[in-house]
Amino acid sequence: MSTTLEKEIHRRKTFGIISHPDAGKTTLTEKLLLFGGAIQEAGAVKSNKIKKGATSDFMEIERQRGISVATSVLAFEYKGKKINILDTPGHKDFAEDTYRTLTAVDSVIVVIDVAKGVEEQTEKLVEVCRMRNIPMLVFINKLDREGKDAFDLLDEVEQKLGLRVTPLSWPIGIGLDFQGIYNMWEKNLKFFTEEKKQKVGESIEIKDINASVVDELIGNAAAETLRSEQELISSVYPEFSKEEYLRGTLQPVFFGSALNNFGVQELLDAFVEIAPNPFPKMSDIRLVNPEEPTFTGFVFKIHANMDPKHRDRLAFVKVVSGTFRRGTNYLHVRQNKIMKFSSPAAFFADKKEIIDESYPGDIVGLHDTGNFRIGDTLTEGEKLSFKGIPYFSPEHFRFINNEDPMKAKQLAKGIDQLMDEGVAQLFTMEMNGRKVIGTVGALQFEVIQYRLEHEYSAKCSYELVQIHKACWVETEDEKSPEFLEFKRIKQKFLARDKFGQLVFLADSAFSITMTQEKYSSVKLHFTNEF
Ligand code: G4P
Repeated sequence: MSTTLEKEIHRRKTFGIISHPDAGKTTLTEKLLLFGGAIQEAGAVKSNKIKKGATSDFMEIERQRGISVATSVLAFEYKGKKINILDTPGHKDFAEDTYRTLTAVDSVIVVIDVAKGVEEQTEKLVEVCRMRNIPMLVFINKLDREGKDAFDLLDEVEQKLGLRVTPLSWPIGIGLDFQGIYNMWEKNLKFFTEEKKQKVGESIEIKDINASVVDELIGNAAAETLRSEQELISSVYPEFSKEEYLRGTLQPVFFGSALNNFGVQELLDAFVEIAPNPFPKMSDIRLVNPEEPTFTGFVFKIHANMDPKHRDRLAFVKVVSGTFRRGTNYLHVRQNKIMKFSSPAAFFADKKEIIDESYPGDIVGLHDTGNFRIGDTLTEGEKLSFKGIPYFSPEHFRFINNEDPMKAKQLAKGIDQLMDEGVAQLFTMEMNGRKVIGTVGALQFEVIQYRLEHEYSAKCSYELVQIHKACWVETEDEKSPEFLEFKRIKQKFLARDKFGQLVFLADSAFSITMTQEKYSSVKLHFTNEF
């Protein structure tokens, strides 16, 4: 094994920040980049939030797309580690984008607003991470504001998110009384030095929390509260164990205020010490280890060029094993095609650069003229495919119609490419070939219509269709009388997805239950990977 490869793997930490919109993901990202010296001033990282009402939705979508290319990956160096932050959209209509990005991270930081507690989007995203045993750190933000009691919040995190938590830092006061943070990880105190709570003092090492210096620093009352809270913590919460954190069975919690730069360094210092290096990844035939000398990687995101005159796209590849090299022949496994990339890009906080080599954990941006689809695998020749980027059943469905008969080809191409990007899913009805678009959020229908018009000069309209869920159909015997009857009776509701898999577009939850009861040998799945 090459020692450079091994050294580079051990230096890499690739993670995502997940939160409900407004909890402080952008602010925290920015503060992490400031610590890493990757940016010089606050305000440099743009929020990728869809701002409702500010401008027309279309403009907002374009603005968001522009930002999301720029902030897809933010890399920086800190204490000798190479840290890659993968951006995840917070808007629920783009949840599927976030799920896919989560297949490329090795750990996550969950940001929670101290006043709002656990919110809907956080719940959904954490559930995905929990199912995959992704190691998670929790950051409770906005401690400078009045919020919930720290113990109540920990309870809420445990109950609503199903996590097993242990605090590694603890707030001294909250809101107006917020004085600072006791860092239980490094046993030191950090507190504000100014009334306005904008300047953070040096951290002061505290060997013994009972020492009188604590009283002098934060006052008798706060010192007593801190001591009794620490006692309670040690009797209630499990001791931190790095192994358990890495297995996804224990989640350390940090408190702070991203806006005021408080508690962020504690979080980052603990992160670089405990967060995992790139994990091995399962493929359809075997587990692939990062240390293997031959390169493998997979596409988890595709971004169309913002300039409609240049139709090329950027495919984001996570390097799983070996060294990716510029200008080298690689196998595009699905298409069984050899490809070579002359200008692969790496991403840094403020720029994109052409690189010669990339290592496991890194994200490489490859120019693509339409060869890639989300989930595609690249290797040095081995025929393996990485698993785990499933498509979920969409929530909203509509027939899509061509509004300009002269532009049928453009429309078909546009739809095809937008589906490759993962904007939505396309189903073709078995009976009459009509096309149904399925999306996670209603906003995507606007996105598709707008982009078809602006990028492909094609016009479409939508028509409502009564579909509740898409269920992927599995059967052991395609010729069995039961399956043939199912196909005949449900004909009207059957479609093929983009990959040619049979899908039952059920019109109600009741219909799914009835179908499952009646045709017990026909299995219905809510994702396309089963
Ligand atoms: P997001 O990416 O998770 O959606 O959240 P973002 O960082 O954009 O933060 C949402 C709002 O919360 C912003 O205010 C931000 O300034 C504020 N915020 C973030 N961290 C803290 C904190 O520690 N304390 C307090 N008090 N506020 C915090 P905004 O008014 O919506 O936007 P802006 O005009 O300040 O940018």
